[in-house]
Amino acid sequence: MKKTAFVTGSSRGIGREIALKLAEENYTVVVTGRSKDDVEKTTAEIKSLNGEALSLVADLTTEAGLKEALAFVTKNVGKLDVLVTNIGSGKTLQDVIVDVNEWKRVFDINFFSAVAAINTFLPLLEKSKGQVVCISSIAGIEKISVAISYSVAKAAVISLVQQMMRPLAAMGVRINAVSPGNVWIENGSWDKKMKDNPARVNDIIQNQVALQKFVSADEIADAVWFTVKNSSITGQNIVIDAGQTRQWP
Ligand SMILES: NC(=O)c1ccc[n+]([C@@H]2O[C@H](COP(=O)([O-])OP(=O)(O)OC[C@H]3O[C@@H](n4cnc5c(N)ncnc54)[C@H](OP(=O)(O)O)[C@@H]3O)[C@@H](O)[C@H]2O)c1
Repeated sequence: MKKTAFVTGSSRGIGREIALKLAEENYTVVVTGRSKDDVEKTTAEIKSLNGEALSLVADLTTEAGLKEALAFVTKNVGKLDVLVTNIGSGKTLQDVIVDVNEWKRVFDINFFSAVAAINTFLPLLEKSKGQVVCISSIAGIEKISVAISYSVAKAAVISLVQQMMRPLAAMGVRINAVSPGNVWIENGSWDKKMKDNPARVNDIIQNQVALQKFVSADEIADAVWFTVKNSSITGQNIVIDAGQTRQWP
């Protein structure tokens, strides 16, 4: 029987690339997002490459959306082997003092969306002895030039993975994080930043990134696949950042 994967936010960007990679590796993938057009486009793309994919249009940051997602997977796929929690956004205020409601919004998108997806799908993952991959960010590891609330939410995602590792291992489930650096995607956030302020973006890439380059989305998808296929890796955070962070692991 084919293995199955559910990737939150996989109609565009990094999530799309993860969905394509898992489909290439013979997984049936549930492609998700709020825009029907984007979801259907990515599903069609996977099918055109002889992969198997199903479309789910839902807001996966809401209780109703996740309830619908569980019902969809139970009815149409029957089991779940891999959950990738990918929804997230760094779009928020850069100020030091930011209203608590904005902090909560940023945490909802970047942290609670992951917690809620894990809560929803863990019973299915326990049955299949499956695994979770959470997409965090190097912003969760050290201070870079992004908003504090986003960085703290992404740090919380890494901590969640580390804290959940042992209880999930006792259930036969693995959990890992993948933390991207600056990922170049056409029409993605870095493409937009480059159009807005090329001098600033070039300065970041030339002076803050050791390899002086962007990361590609397929390199993130490869890292996700590495954690999925390696049965001994759990509780880890894989950094793919072209040498931007300076810490020893
Ligand atoms: N891009 C980077 O350089 C970078 C660097 C480090 C970490 N990351 C992290 O990597 C992840 C993906 O980033 P990205 O740049 O690929 O993002 P993106 O281009 O904005 O794509 C986000 C995906 O999630 C979907 N989505 C957003 N909100 C959703 C919701 N409420 N319910 C269902 N689907 C939703 C979007 O579709 P709809 O809008 O149609 O819903 C889209 O498919 C995020 O967690 C981000 O923080 C990105």
